Amino acid sequence: MKPINRRKFLILSSSSALATLMAQCSLANTQENQQFFSSYPQINQSKDGILEVDLTANYNQINLGNKQAYVLNYNGQIPGPRLEAKPGDTIRINFTNNLPQPTNLHYHGLHIPITGNADNVFLHIPPGDRFTYQFQIPENHPAGIFWYHPHLHGLVAEQLFGGLAGLFVVRGELDEIPEVKAATEQFLVLQDFALDQQGNMLPSQELSIMTGREGNLITANGQFSPNFTIPAQGLLRLRILNASTSRFYRLSLEEHPFYLIATDGGALAEPVEMSELLLTPGERADVLIQANREPRKYRLLNLPYERVGMGMMGRGMMGRGMMGRGMMGRDVPESQPQVLATVSYNTQVAAVPLPKKLIPVPALPEPQKIRRFQMNHGMIPAQGMAFLFNGQPYQPERIDTQVQLNTVEDWELINTGMMDHPFHVHTNAFQVLSRNGKAEPYRAWKDVVLVRPGETVLIRMPLRDFTGKTVYHCHILDHEDLGMMGNLEIKA
Ligand code: CU
Ligand code: CU
Ligand code: CU
Repeated sequence: MKPINRRKFLILSSSSALATLMAQCSLANTQENQQFFSSYPQINQSKDGILEVDLTANYNQINLGNKQAYVLNYNGQIPGPRLEAKPGDTIRINFTNNLPQPTNLHYHGLHIPITGNADNVFLHIPPGDRFTYQFQIPENHPAGIFWYHPHLHGLVAEQLFGGLAGLFVVRGELDEIPEVKAATEQFLVLQDFALDQQGNMLPSQELSIMTGREGNLITANGQFSPNFTIPAQGLLRLRILNASTSRFYRLSLEEHPFYLIATDGGALAEPVEMSELLLTPGERADVLIQANREPRKYRLLNLPYERVGMGMMGRGMMGRGMMGRGMMGRDVPESQPQVLATVSYNTQVAAVPLPKKLIPVPALPEPQKIRRFQMNHGMIPAQGMAFLFNGQPYQPERIDTQVQLNTVEDWELINTGMMDHPFHVHTNAFQVLSRNGKAEPYRAWKDVVLVRPGETVLIRMPLRDFTGKTVYHCHILDHEDLGMMGNLEIKA
């Protein structure tokens, strides 16, 4: 594959240069950024049952936070336009590929057809071409935070890391719960970038592909550390998406617990209190925050998290020589909390209580079939390191898993490797039953679940409504591009 970085780069080779760049973008700039705070780029909402949008993928210079960056983007903005629809709506996306590479679109988490011009990840849209995506959101589709991003095998990590991601919000029942409706709603799209001082993307060879590329520049809604203002005694509804290629976010808001009200696939039965929240790539969390502390500014922190086992770091079990320069480990261990955003109180309102009940999450019936998926990495002759399901790297022509429509399956996800792998499956959301045999504390609809080294995670999935071919994969998208993906065929 031809790398996307066609311009000449000034490579940032020292971590001190990166540190300088980070410092420029730190909380110190909070004051100047005030006018941009909490604004979200273009929003497109459905009208009279139709959402029609022109969406163009570009590779050009845009404004990212307070600097000019030469990155990938939809409609000139990062993140891409926020699309909003309701159950039953028809969606028409007039897509243009202005990238120097082929691409396509995946509608992550949406329960829609997987064939034709809907959520078909096998489409290949060449440079300069146009394609119209069209589909209907089912009448019984849950409300929630979904998103779109490219999904062309081999180029997914690179294109997402360049900046291509946008929210797809489905509005519905959860939004009508009075306490939820009374909350101040904000979205938080977390992305990371690796740019040089001129704002050009660092080439892939300079990034840690094996562990999953990460950039030292973190943006929230395309801004550096935005501030969200809420009324004292009110509620903030923060709707968070991890749109990073590989980076995990371990979130904590100073002095405030999160009340989780919805996960990837929609609402919980009741709010769940959490002191911190781990979001792996592709995961979403919908949380309420009570503004019931002393009115001032509080920091939303990203706490350190190690997602690669010690054996894989530096000169671990596989020597650097085999991997090539810069492929193993990360530039600098991030041992300090980072500030992603801030929350501050302004005017006061009458206290808004937390909702007591949300939307029931029914238990699924017993499965017709139980399957096992072992996740690991290994060496493939004449190919090098690959990421594997059940010992095999992805083969586009091979069907790995055949399932029957209108059945329920249990999948046992076993990580025998040394890195965390967030497992994702398209089209049908699932419930996590247990982790290493320990039952999950509450029921939730998920489409990404973290499986750590040595863990066995049991999920239960109903196969509903749609037949055809789609995929499951690790959502550390470098792992997906390096083989950790399987073809799933849903048969009528
Ligand atoms: Cu995804
Ligand atoms: Cu992985
Ligand atoms: Cu996918």
